[in-house]
Amino acid sequence: MVIFGASGDLTKRKLVPALYALAAEGSVPDGFTVIGAARSPLSDEEFRADMREGVEKYGRIHLREDVWERFAAGLRYATYNMDAEDGFDHLKQALEAADRERGTAGNRLLYFSTPPNAVMPLTDRLNTAGLTTQAPGTFVRVIIEKPFGRDLATARELNTRLHTAFVEEQIYRIDHYLGKETVQNLLVFRFANGIFEPLWNRQYIDHVQITVAEEIGVEGRGSYYEEAGALRDIVQNHIMQLVAIMGMEAPSNFQAEMVRDEKVKLLRAVRPIHPDDALSHSVRGQYSAGYINGQPVPGYRDERGVAPDSLRETFVALKLDIDNWRWAGTPFYLRTGKRMPKRSTEIVIQFRRVPHSPFAGSVPLAAGAVPEDGIDPNLLILRIQPDEGISLRFGAKIPGQALRIESVNMDFMYGTAFREQSPDAYERLLLDCMLGDPTLFAREDEVEEAWRFCTAILDGWRAHPPDRTNSPNYPAGTWGPEESHAFMARDGRAWHVP
Ligand SMILES: NC(=O)c1ccc[n+]([C@@H]2O[C@H](COP(=O)([O-])OP(=O)(O)OC[C@H]3O[C@@H](n4cnc5c(N)ncnc54)[C@H](OP(=O)(O)O)[C@@H]3O)[C@@H](O)[C@H]2O)c1
Repeated sequence: MVIFGASGDLTKRKLVPALYALAAEGSVPDGFTVIGAARSPLSDEEFRADMREGVEKYGRIHLREDVWERFAAGLRYATYNMDAEDGFDHLKQALEAADRERGTAGNRLLYFSTPPNAVMPLTDRLNTAGLTTQAPGTFVRVIIEKPFGRDLATARELNTRLHTAFVEEQIYRIDHYLGKETVQNLLVFRFANGIFEPLWNRQYIDHVQITVAEEIGVEGRGSYYEEAGALRDIVQNHIMQLVAIMGMEAPSNFQAEMVRDEKVKLLRAVRPIHPDDALSHSVRGQYSAGYINGQPVPGYRDERGVAPDSLRETFVALKLDIDNWRWAGTPFYLRTGKRMPKRSTEIVIQFRRVPHSPFAGSVPLAAGAVPEDGIDPNLLILRIQPDEGISLRFGAKIPGQALRIESVNMDFMYGTAFREQSPDAYERLLLDCMLGDPTLFAREDEVEEAWRFCTAILDGWRAHPPDRTNSPNYPAGTWGPEESHAFMARDGRAWHVP
């Protein structure tokens, strides 16, 4: 495996700790070799020391000396020069040495862990250097990190450019959400259980909410965030993937193309929002200074790398309609934000109320409320992170002479139901790529369909910038701007509080 941009943060924090965990549990053979590649000069020894620190600091499992010794024997470093004719010679030599000394047999996994603007030049240069072609009986695969483009046009351009060097089967677009156990469990929950699927449609589901709330701010990545914003950073990839998994039809089997075909079909059915309608289908927000867990935190505009008059969104709420028989009339509400009161990714399925409540008279009602309002609707809450698990909320009789109803939860918690620790998302995805299984990676058309929806909103937003007098519009440590609550209230609904 060659990691390009190996001098960066992702390699040390995520990739190498994940590879170490795979080595520790015997999922990769002893000859497995990782070549860290970047422009900065570094010796093999310096690279190993840095990676060891990464495993010790960020690894899921404790570093064991004997395992580390074996793993580190396959850790190498090679510099490259993007501008010189022979700029990749050093890397080529390192790869040939690995084939010779460690039996890697010409199989290569290329991981682009560089900033996005380096992906196209790197592709071109590797192509010219002959490092992208698969000799008979060997494989060359490439993993591309997010963000994949910044709108539909740039995503298409990137796909076209990648295809000059790689065929689609070689390209693995990584979205680490898909490597999470809880996200994979959504597929199991839906398609391995007979009881939920009959209810999984417009007839029984009132609406679906998907929330990705982050407690953290921009964590020193202000300049990246100024370019990206919440829609590009979270909605286009992670949330749209969750929409696809929640909404898709059952594939006839679990082969990669079967699953991906169904996801794409769902994304194609997402109703396009005309840029002129973007404002009525979305809410943008930006945080000001506030408190998280009682500690003061700065506003977005005070973060390093952020313009003092920035209008970049750190919060977005959206309404999405799906035009097919399963979902017509059942909207999906999506929201994500930074500096929310707590970190939480969850999907809430709100079922329709009973058509008529025989208990209506027995429940004390607020003035003006309609009888059914006495009983809360049933909710199925799928918690992706943290407190991974599933809760079903339903009404139960409060013990006593009177007939009073209260909502109770039936809970499944990953942490208590299973002894096994969940592997990190990168472990699963790296292993899948080595095994040539692209099921949990986004295909070309999947990425473009997600961008199609998001780009129309971006276009509408560009035409109608946020009101300067109302930005920032939510204090850190709150669930986003007031407009987000009004957005739901307009449809007679409310956000679930995680
Ligand atoms: N960090 C995360 O948690 C995270 C999470 C999700 C996705 N990602 C994505 O993963 C990728 C890597 O993230 P990162 O945080 O490790 O990035 P990073 O630290 O900004 O960059 C990684 C390395 O890329 C090289 N690089 C920088 N500019 C380059 C250029 N113009 N051409 C070629 N190489 C260049 C640098 O190494 P040299 O100068 O030594 O070549 C740098 O150390 C990015 O695409 C990021 O968006 C990161």
